[in-house]
Amino acid sequence: MKNVGFIFDLDGVIVDTAKYHYLAWKKLANALGFEFTVEQNELFKGVSRKRCLEILLDIGQVKASQTQFDTWMVEKNVDYLAYIENMDASEILPDVPRVLDYLKNNNVPIALGSASKNARPILKKVGLLPYFDSIVDGNQVTKAKPDPEVFLIAARNLNVEPDHCVVFEDAVAGIEAANRAKMTSIGIGDEHVLHEAKYNFKDFTEMSTEFIASLVQKNFAK
Ligand code: BG6
Ligand code: MG
Repeated sequence: MKNVGFIFDLDGVIVDTAKYHYLAWKKLANALGFEFTVEQNELFKGVSRKRCLEILLDIGQVKASQTQFDTWMVEKNVDYLAYIENMDASEILPDVPRVLDYLKNNNVPIALGSASKNARPILKKVGLLPYFDSIVDGNQVTKAKPDPEVFLIAARNLNVEPDHCVVFEDAVAGIEAANRAKMTSIGIGDEHVLHEAKYNFKDFTEMSTEFIASLVQKNFAK
């Protein structure tokens, strides 16, 4: 077994796609006759597409048949795909490449652990696919975050013990999943929202390369 592995969430950690998810859900909400706010969108972070639609329909107090539900899931994704169509490297969040380069240069295995079914095409569009030794996304998991399944599969794929893994997450559900997997959780975003994380950073620009090096050392030496 290798002794240390790093797992990245995608949306809100590597790229700022939350705004596109928001616009697509808002369009659907408006078409169904109600408002959907940026604040409400916080509830959708890290949450599967199906669960998001359930929450959205609760917000709008809309009842749906199974057929309508399935149609709206498809419609939302078609709109989302249109928003992400022209994504490129300029949409990578600041200093993500610095951290990925450091890990790669030090032969640390890297995985993606995302709820999104669109993860692979997004990584490809922004040019980061080659960094990842394993990609675990919404197409492979049966239990959504906060269940630790996505991160446990990633650890297994990297051939690293879960408690030797470090996870970067921007969602409350994702931090809970990492903690339940006994991994070192690092919150990226608002520290008050992500207070369950072991460490907190507003973004990667605030995270020194020395800190990354210390995480590698600590988990290696466990
Ligand atoms: C997560 C996002 O990464 O992926 C959620 O934070 C989103 O907001 C979920 O609902 C599923 O994404 P997709 O691309 O499969 O609809
Ligand atoms: Mg996220």
